[in-house]
Amino acid sequence: MALKAAVGPSPSELETEAARLADKGLAGLGYRDEELERAARLTWRINRLKKEKRAVIPAHVYQRPEILLGVADFIGDSYKLAKLGAASDAKCIIFCGVRFMAETAKILSPDKEVLLPAPEAGCSLSESISAADVRALKKRHPGAPVAVYINTTAAVKAECDVVVTSANAPKILRKLFAEHPKVIFAPDAMMGRNLAKDLGKKIGEELVIWDGTCLVHDNFDAASVEFYRKMYPGVRILAHFECTPALTSVVDYIGGTGDMMKWVDDHDASSYMLITECGLGDLARARFPDKAFVPMCRLCPHMKAATLERVLSALESPSASRRVEVPASVAARALRPIERMFEMSEDRSAA
Ligand code: 13P
Ligand code: SF4
Repeated sequence: MALKAAVGPSPSELETEAARLADKGLAGLGYRDEELERAARLTWRINRLKKEKRAVIPAHVYQRPEILLGVADFIGDSYKLAKLGAASDAKCIIFCGVRFMAETAKILSPDKEVLLPAPEAGCSLSESISAADVRALKKRHPGAPVAVYINTTAAVKAECDVVVTSANAPKILRKLFAEHPKVIFAPDAMMGRNLAKDLGKKIGEELVIWDGTCLVHDNFDAASVEFYRKMYPGVRILAHFECTPALTSVVDYIGGTGDMMKWVDDHDASSYMLITECGLGDLARARFPDKAFVPMCRLCPHMKAATLERVLSALESPSASRRVEVPASVAARALRPIERMFEMSEDRSAA
């Protein structure tokens, strides 16, 4: 079996695999025959090696379509990936996403080998704040609980009270405000402003925020929303929580990627515009071939750094640079706020 995966597929296996990829949605996304064949050569080997090595591949929705539809075992937003990665009984996790996600997986599954196919894949939010910055915030605002976005390093998570994602931030912050007059939220300033508006809290006085931004979501032009509404009458416009308040105030729905997909599924509109990283629109087009999507998206260079070639290379010869490690003392302190997120987001009692 190992030998076979290394050698590659026979012509008929290659044809079957290319047809499978086409059916999964790559044909609908515009992959031509030669592109399907190139992808199929790699996905065929990855899927066999994955079984041999008892590896699992979680993939964030912003990953390339050939990863999402060709080799991923589960696809999701940051919250779903954290939950499902921890629940899996695989020996090894090949994380198709960025470093903070792979670190979270390692914290939750310390006994599994976690490999990041694109080891340089960071995040502008995660890079905007350090553990020392969080300690300084706590000193300046004594007694205020600290909620940090999951897009942070393990060292930053280790300093906070609870981790949040775009799927649960409003709910968790509401619960924190039920018991505290002031809450610290870091590092996404745009999401912080959107949350303050949603919760009716004053920035600085009640909700203390940081000045990090996402290089993808911070750059959409709110003025073009009006233009698109005229051009595509009836279009429903959805924006990610990390977009600017100028933009989120003129759209039909704000949420994380998981909730944006659910909203599309639940609504019947003439067309949809998903203002976020382009991967979500690709996935939506594959999942909902009968719905129309108007493009308005940007690529995240970090998310797109993973390729099928790099996934295969991580599986074939896991190098030290791809192996994700979190020092035990940091992991032990970061685990509690992540578990607290699971408890608070799944607790059905009202805040
Ligand atoms: P979600 O998929 O959790 O909404 O996060 C978006 C994001 O920016 C991940 O990098
Ligand atoms: Fe970070 Fe933004 Fe890229 Fe997500 S899309 S990984 S928040 S830079």
